[in-house]
Amino acid sequence: MRISHENPSVGGVARVSGATLTRAAPPSVVRVDHLVKRYGATTAVADLSFSVRPGEIFGLLGPNGAGKTSTIEIIEGIRTPDSGTVEVFGLDIQRQRRAIQGRVGVQLQSTTLFPELTVQETLGLFGSFYPHARPVRELLREVALEEKAHAFPQDLSGGQRQRLALALALVNEPELVILDEPTTGLDPQSRRALWDIIQQLRQRGVAIILTTHFMDEAQILCDRIAIVDHGQIIAEDTPAGLIALLGASAAIAFQVVVPTGATAPDLAMVRQLPGVEDARAGLDQLILYTRQTEPTLIALLHLAEHAGVTLEHLQLHTPTLEDVFIKLTGRQLRS
Ligand SMILES: Nc1ncnc2c1ncn2[C@@H]1O[C@H](COP(=O)(O)OP(=O)(O)OP(=O)(O)O)[C@@H](O)[C@H]1O
Ligand SMILES: [Mg+2]
Repeated sequence: MRISHENPSVGGVARVSGATLTRAAPPSVVRVDHLVKRYGATTAVADLSFSVRPGEIFGLLGPNGAGKTSTIEIIEGIRTPDSGTVEVFGLDIQRQRRAIQGRVGVQLQSTTLFPELTVQETLGLFGSFYPHARPVRELLREVALEEKAHAFPQDLSGGQRQRLALALALVNEPELVILDEPTTGLDPQSRRALWDIIQQLRQRGVAIILTTHFMDEAQILCDRIAIVDHGQIIAEDTPAGLIALLGASAAIAFQVVVPTGATAPDLAMVRQLPGVEDARAGLDQLILYTRQTEPTLIALLHLAEHAGVTLEHLQLHTPTLEDVFIKLTGRQLRS
């Protein structure tokens, strides 16, 4: 299954002083078409297509091994696809790679830094690769590393190292920035600091592709998200559009404790409760998706009482992208 919405407001027809001019739709910043990548017997990317529009943050969200890094490394020109095409700024990634690379900034899943160069020297070195590099001082300010200008990589915290890696991706004032799990391994405060920097980039009109397996990150940062699983896009939309797929206004999660002699209500029974849109068995809990929270809750408590079981760790939450992933795949994103 693949769900996607095209935005009809992009491109098309412009009306000027009563006259109608037809103009070409603005090219996508990135257009990926039927991409396939295999490593021996493993198909990492299985016929994947999407496009990224100017000025948006586009997220590839999926579990370990879904094919996110393989996909973006092909867009970066680091890997070659087995089939399919990738255009960046309307140029072919295989034939016009050099023309593209000066306009793209890349943060790899892990960045190797030179241990003998300070933060400032590292930025200066990367800048020297480009004819029009941004001033080091400006980059340091953008990623809030001014105080660490003279520090060596090994003396930086994880969050500071990630911010340096991001600054390296921004050296050439890119129009497109590609970030592979920019916040993995960071504490909540450092994650938020990086989110701020990424959101400021979007405000300047930079298009961003990021990969993540953090649902909250995708939900907060991304204008559109492609959920990737086993090398395929299984759903693509805005965060709100994806959550609307559930058709539910709340999720009710709980554990059932069954005393000896009692029988636990099964999934089919809870699915029959009023308002319930869907029900799933998680690792150690049941999750109900409901359109009518109160009637469902009341009926659930009655059902438990009638069956002689108790409900523990009862939680009510607004549906999230995690719920969407579970609905589409039957699995949790992080096993
Ligand atoms: N160089 C390689 N040689 C062989 N197999 C590879 C190679 N790189 C990736 N793979 C396999 O391809 C699949 C997709 O890997 P990829 O790194 O693209 O996933 P990912 O979505 O980025 O995962 P993660 O969230 O763990 O970073 C996995 O099954 C992985 O083991
Ligand atoms: Mg990866």
